[in-house]
Amino acid sequence: MSEKLYIFDTTLRDGEQVPGCQLNTVEKIEVAKALEELGVDIIEAGFPISSPGDFKSVVEISKAVKNPTICALTRAVEKDIEVAADALKYAKKGRIHTGIGTSPYHIKYKLNSNEDEIVERAVAAVKFAKKFVEDVEFYAEDAGRSDNAYLARVVEAVIKAGATVINIPDTTGYCMPHEFGEKIKYLVDHVSNVDKAILSTHCHNDLGMATANTIAGVLNGARQVEVTINGIGERAGNTSLEEVVMTLRSRKHLGIDTEINSKKIFKTSRLVSSLMNMPVQPNKAIVGKNAFAHSSGIHQDGVLKHRENYEIIDPVEVGISESSIDLTARSGRAALKHRLQLLGYEFDTDELNKLYEEFLDLADKKKGVNDEDLKILVGSKHIGEERAIELKHLQVLCGQSAIPMATVTLDLKGEEFTSTESGNGPVDAAFKAVKKLIMHKIKLEEYVVQAITRGSDDLGKVHVQIECKGKIYYGFSGNTDIITASVEAFIDAINKIV
Ligand code: KIV
Ligand code: ZN
Repeated sequence: MSEKLYIFDTTLRDGEQVPGCQLNTVEKIEVAKALEELGVDIIEAGFPISSPGDFKSVVEISKAVKNPTICALTRAVEKDIEVAADALKYAKKGRIHTGIGTSPYHIKYKLNSNEDEIVERAVAAVKFAKKFVEDVEFYAEDAGRSDNAYLARVVEAVIKAGATVINIPDTTGYCMPHEFGEKIKYLVDHVSNVDKAILSTHCHNDLGMATANTIAGVLNGARQVEVTINGIGERAGNTSLEEVVMTLRSRKHLGIDTEINSKKIFKTSRLVSSLMNMPVQPNKAIVGKNAFAHSSGIHQDGVLKHRENYEIIDPVEVGISESSIDLTARSGRAALKHRLQLLGYEFDTDELNKLYEEFLDLADKKKGVNDEDLKILVGSKHIGEERAIELKHLQVLCGQSAIPMATVTLDLKGEEFTSTESGNGPVDAAFKAVKKLIMHKIKLEEYVVQAITRGSDDLGKVHVQIECKGKIYYGFSGNTDIITASVEAFIDAINKIV
């Protein structure tokens, strides 16, 4: 049985402070419900004194959410605490989070005060908050740069005043993991009543060490972590929930775990990202688009042989259906074969080799080759099939002030023939040049071009219908060059007559 680590989610308070990420109350309720489903223990729903909107959100989230404790932030100011208590009146379990700066910077330059006075104000704030709720969390702002001995004095005093949770924020993201870990250990060793409260970490990511610091805190005795979805938050962000949760899940021997339903992580990440207009960076740990994507040939081969060769977490555990084998110009035959198998295609070695060459050709032109591209590649290349007519060469001249011209070389049963034609556009010119080289009398009945997916580098898909001696034949091709795709589709249809 693992020891429980409490997850205090501050996406809706510290995360929401990011410019451009503000949510309205309805959106906040949607996120709060998703956090509840995810299994967080505490939701910091806002800073009620800061605006009527924040006040209303805390009220509405308190009504909407049943299981997690709802927490409201305050300064060590009576009015803040009264307003927070009022906002929490509908919460099944409410917590007031009050606090004050304890670093020399904050004491002198922000609060224009001194150490003794800060202890008094901290104690007074906790005692005042206790009049409204049982559960009072105290934060020692800028604890990361606070003197450990002084911090221990403040912490001991506020626990004595009734604080149930003590938050040790690295407000400026200054600490290194060993320093933050030592800070928590110092408090565990030097605060005589530390067993009466839970120590909490609240790390910012200014030096990219928020998760490492948080884990160091946990290893040294913290049993609550303050985190946000996707690590969003002021400046470089807060500790990301998914990173902490999955670090502990991938180290069961530590015997510390959360009650997070990790399978909901990805869904929650995308909800927060879309509502907050905050894209998740592709290489973001756990939830980035590339977090479980393998693109180099060696890694793809290794993952296909045994997933754990290159993955420490099963993507299914975080709600991603499977690892993706991204097909790029660096992919090997094993990856191509695997993806084709998933699409239901089986090829022998010769066919696969031929297809692989064509795949590499396409991958050089496109950044990534997707399933649609592969289906077209397979469908239009007629692996292993003898073709009576093959396109050997195509050159077109077109543009705003040019007369469209096309030169086509076809392989007709082993012999090459070339012709050049003009037309009202490059496709018309190329079709005429093809027609000149073949014996059949054909009529183009239908010609459809479609862009398949997203970018301008994507494949164009062409369907043609031709008529020959009263019969209809269909042709199809896909190519990043739509003129080439058109001619290939045209030839595909002609081959069916032959
Ligand atoms: O970073 C910080 O110090 C905070 C406190 C208000 C808890 O967000
Ligand atoms: Zn913060």
